[in-house]
Amino acid sequence: MKNKLKILAYSLVVLITSTSCAEKQKEQSTGENKIQQSVNPNGDSELATLMREMFDEAKSIKQQIANGKPVELIIDHEKMLTAHATEPEKAASAQYKMFADLYLQSIKNLESAKTNEVDSLYNTMVVSCLNCHKALCPGPLVKIKKLQ
Ligand code: HEC
Repeated sequence: MKNKLKILAYSLVVLITSTSCAEKQKEQSTGENKIQQSVNPNGDSELATLMREMFDEAKSIKQQIANGKPVELIIDHEKMLTAHATEPEKAASAQYKMFADLYLQSIKNLESAKTNEVDSLYNTMVVSCLNCHKALCPGPLVKIKKLQ
């Protein structure tokens, strides 16, 4: 019985912590609603800002591939290893580092891909976004799936 309670307590903790990366609803930045724009009272973390740039970069890579252009990266993806996060303990975890390494490898592979590999390597890259998010930050999953 005691063990069962323990398991229940652990699952509760997991449930609570996994809802903390919930999707933030952002207002479009037009003049009047600028003040209400940032849902996070401390402003967005460095990592959240970088993630949005990574999302835009993935979108433009998808476009480059569709146009038969070579893949060109603009942002420094390695910054995800050091950028300050909303929940610093999350980004400091071994799990985060492992998923980050897999992602960084996937983006390197994509950058040096041959034309016939580029589609499948792009998909591998998006899957490596999804894998980390499934484990640590489920909020933006729906948005990321649109990159596929
Ligand atoms: C190693 C884990 C990891 C990988 C890989 C990863 N993310 Fe994230 N992502 C996070 C974490 C953690 C946050 C929360 C950041 C914060 O709030 O400080 C986040 C936040 C986000 C957000 C929300 C940003 C906001 O506005 O608050 C988006 C969108 C996002 N990621 C997209 C992506 C995309 C697209 C990729 C792949 C190109 C990706 N992520 C790869 C861990 C990851």
